[in-house]
Amino acid sequence: MSAARSFSDIPGSDEAAIAARLPAYLARSYARYSNFTVASAVVDDQGGVHFGVNVENAAYPSGTCAEQTAIGAMITAGGRRIERVYIAAGSDAVVQPCGACRQRIGEFAAKTCEIVSVQGGAATVRTPFWNLLPEAFGPGDLE
Ligand code: THU
Repeated sequence: MSAARSFSDIPGSDEAAIAARLPAYLARSYARYSNFTVASAVVDDQGGVHFGVNVENAAYPSGTCAEQTAIGAMITAGGRRIERVYIAAGSDAVVQPCGACRQRIGEFAAKTCEIVSVQGGAATVRTPFWNLLPEAFGPGDLE
């Protein structure tokens, strides 16, 4: 099957453009229950950029995080290796991925993967991903 590898017109190297677009995605978040909107962009090792927002549910545990949505978009587009994860919250606070999303990111994260906080549409705090998930259980443990 031939398909576009990314649904974004922004190259993964264009950090300013990715960060500037996240506030518009925040407006699409479905955070009906918490009112805590989150938008994320995952950049893969081919420079593909994949956006996602949190999608809550009346059955609360069935909601999904923004990072989870973005990872699903990356996999659907054919990406397999995560280089960077951008995260913006409607509160404009620095938000690091929740525990479950650290595990989800870890499944695909490159050794140099970074979490990049976005505030006011600009990249701010940078955190090496593997600092957030040391001693992880991962695909290699099943080999
Ligand atoms: N949430 C995310 O989407 N990503 C995070 O990194 C932290 C939390 C969402 C889940 C839920 O919809 C809302 O924020 C409040 O926890």
